[in-house]
Amino acid sequence: MKNAIVTGGGGGLGKSICTELSKNGYAVAVLDLKIKDAQRTSEGLENASAYAVDVRDHSSVIEFYKNYGKAPELIVNNAGIARFNKLLDQKIKDFEDVIQTNLIGSFIFASEGVRLMIKEAKKGSIINITSIHSVSPGIGVGAYSPAKAGLASLTKLMALEWGEFGIRVNAIAPGFIDSGMSKPFFENPKIRELRGKAVPLQRLGTSEDIAKTVLYLSSDAASYVNANEIIVDGGVIHSVLMHLPRE
Ligand SMILES: NC(=O)c1ccc[n+]([C@@H]2O[C@H](COP(=O)([O-])OP(=O)(O)OC[C@H]3O[C@@H](n4cnc5c(N)ncnc54)[C@H](O)[C@@H]3O)[C@@H](O)[C@H]2O)c1
Repeated sequence: MKNAIVTGGGGGLGKSICTELSKNGYAVAVLDLKIKDAQRTSEGLENASAYAVDVRDHSSVIEFYKNYGKAPELIVNNAGIARFNKLLDQKIKDFEDVIQTNLIGSFIFASEGVRLMIKEAKKGSIINITSIHSVSPGIGVGAYSPAKAGLASLTKLMALEWGEFGIRVNAIAPGFIDSGMSKPFFENPKIRELRGKAVPLQRLGTSEDIAKTVLYLSSDAASYVNANEIIVDGGVIHSVLMHLPRE
């Protein structure tokens, strides 16, 4: 049986990613800072187990891999946080926390997993969850855009350094997803409608849209796809000219 590790598996996107992987024959390790949320995801899934891990904490990550006891075939670096404020109102601590979780945490978690992939399996796949903010920064999101842009760049560097070991590394940049950390925005019906209409496909994305892309990237169908950031946003990031006022 193939095995996968998903960080932030207790959250909105994480739950869908774990579910999709489990439905498609993966034994899934569901990791989260909050063990109860990880357990909520793993319950009801076949061959899934929950683990409390803080991806920012090197010793927590090393301890996890020791307990896990084998080389992962797939790592999904999905754990992430956002702290919203304009730059001049940002607390330095918030800025640091966002970089620490989204960028440094992904580096720590992938590196320790890759050591096992190289030693035991000589193959593997890593998927980093970035955001359309990595391509086009949004105002008021503080370190979130720089952290995700850093993660997109790190994805390419990982792919370059680890390709020789048979390890593919790609990123997925979700757009306006009606799940997880974005859900509160879409509780306002006006914002929900306007954001949906701003997307060329005329709808918000779902966590399943992201989970299916994870499944694709992890599969043999993507065996030559490497060092890519796949934007899964219904086309919104490329839609600026569509919204220009016209006669
Ligand atoms: N929801 C969206 O619209 C959207 C859009 C673009 C990108 N993303 C990205 O998708 C990923 C998942 O986000 P989500 O929307 O499901 O958010 P979410 O808040 O529902 O889930 C994130 C999960 O990560 C966990 N986590 C946070 N810090 C952690 C740490 N240090 N160690 C381990 N786990 C930790 C949280 O406990 C939470 O369960 C994030 O990387 C986010 O930046 C989300």
